[in-house]
Amino acid sequence: MERFTESGMPFAPVYGPEDLAGFDPARLGAPGEFPYTRGVYPGMYTQRPWTMRQYAGFGTAQQSNERYRELIEAGTTGLSVAFDLPTQMGYDSDAPLAHGEVGKVGVAIDSLQDMRLLFDRIPLGEVSTSMTINAPAAVLLLLYQLVAEEQGVDPARLTGTIQNDVLKEYIARGTYIYPPAASLRLVSDTFAYCNQVLPRWNTISISGYHMAEAGAHPAQEIAFTLADGIAYVEAAIKAGLAVDDFAPRLSFFFVSRTTLLEEVAKFRAARRIWATIMRDRFGAQNPKSMMLRFHTQTAGVQLTAQQPEVNMVRVAVQALAAVFGGTQSLHTNSFDEAIALPTQKAARLALRTQQVIAYETDVTATVDPFAGSYVIESLTDDLEAHILELMQAVDDRGGAVAAIEENYQKNEIEQTAYATAQQIDSGDRVVVGVNRFALDAEEPYEPLRVDPAIEQEQAQRLAGLRRHRDDAAVRKSLDQLRDAATGDKNVLYPMKDALRALATVGEVCDTLRDVWGRYVPPDSL
Ligand code: 3HC
Repeated sequence: MERFTESGMPFAPVYGPEDLAGFDPARLGAPGEFPYTRGVYPGMYTQRPWTMRQYAGFGTAQQSNERYRELIEAGTTGLSVAFDLPTQMGYDSDAPLAHGEVGKVGVAIDSLQDMRLLFDRIPLGEVSTSMTINAPAAVLLLLYQLVAEEQGVDPARLTGTIQNDVLKEYIARGTYIYPPAASLRLVSDTFAYCNQVLPRWNTISISGYHMAEAGAHPAQEIAFTLADGIAYVEAAIKAGLAVDDFAPRLSFFFVSRTTLLEEVAKFRAARRIWATIMRDRFGAQNPKSMMLRFHTQTAGVQLTAQQPEVNMVRVAVQALAAVFGGTQSLHTNSFDEAIALPTQKAARLALRTQQVIAYETDVTATVDPFAGSYVIESLTDDLEAHILELMQAVDDRGGAVAAIEENYQKNEIEQTAYATAQQIDSGDRVVVGVNRFALDAEEPYEPLRVDPAIEQEQAQRLAGLRRHRDDAAVRKSLDQLRDAATGDKNVLYPMKDALRALATVGEVCDTLRDVWGRYVPPDSL
């Protein structure tokens, strides 16, 4: 039976020298050299393993702080903060819309007070921290800077990443606030601010992961993500920034599926395409502007609630694909994540999976071990061509924002998701433990549950904060923020003053909502 890759390209049963006829070694380059097909650093993991960065956070700042310190103790090498939905949407825990969601899928952060607790006894000058926050990314970044300053850390030393990728929120994830033009303005302000104040901070994590979770195949995932990348670069250049002043701090975020061969090829193709775009389309001169550095998360969508322990095996294969693909940073999912928030034991096992790959196998002994393989180089080329075709389709619609406004990417992804669901239903696509090798009765499993009393607790803390702060100072600083947002001054400077005066995340976002409005997607008009 003929097999196809996940991106729908034919898979040859055997690849040989004829598949690489006319292959130009310059398309590979040496590791650490243009076009970075073989990886962004010359020595890759022989010099330093990837960052083991486990996404975590739930309940209150104090509870999450405990989880982070446990993870550091267990050997994680970078932090990754999950925020609850109200924080991600720019609402305080006591806002009516927050009801029922406080502390559920991540930690609730309302003000500087909470942020202090979140990083209590964690030296921010030594760890790098990723924050999965998009529409209010600037707000949380400034809170992080304020806490670091209180710890006596020079902002120029701070390292980490904010997700800050609002375009993919319109396409796949849903936590957008403002319309696209205002969102791009805020992103460009953040690039400029970081260039001046936080030069080591990765200002955005342009993400395909969520598109993949929504059903995108590998070529769609990369094409739509790189197209978003182009839109950010164009917006920043239009705002007056020089490409080499911000491009070295752009970063990316992709999924890693169980289809290991195609995934390895996907990562290599993505690096080659981005390097070429940055050099040839945007005239970047600094090699760092051309390097596609990325974080990977193993595919949550491929985990099953049935026989959840089988997920450990899936995660190990997915993690290997990310490592063979040259990832800079990796999150391995916990085996119980298809059921609920991970328990402590499952979270530790997920980290151990990375540690086994890093320290017990030989895959870190040499750089890009698949280079020159008939199948991998062929797939890399095939994927590159397929991705470029899809990127052209976005360009033909006037770029990522125009395509979003006609729902192009979302519709394409939904069609792929539908086809995949049909294959699973018909049994053409095997999911072990679900449509083949199923058990008659599943063993009972006790998931972690978040205490609903947290909402009440957060509301009381907010009431206390509002009673004790200097209200006149808060009002004045929010007025200054409003003025900057109405005009064209960088909003991050007045925003920082407001947060220092203990304005809340919700108050800051409401101020911007007043000026910029809210985005309403075309399919709900
Ligand atoms: N040789 C030389 N130098 C090396 C090296 C090597 N082999 N390996 C690393 N280094 C250096 C780097 O140059 C860098 O130094 P610099 O900052 O001075 O340039 C330093 O060591 C750190 O290395 P990296 O930059 O490679 O690794 P980081 O971990 O710091 O950064 C990243 C990786 C991808 C660039 C960054 O953006 C990142 O950490 N992203 C994480 C994003 C993340 O965790 N997201 C979670 C999303 S969860 C989510 O969305 C939730 C849900 O909805 C699913």
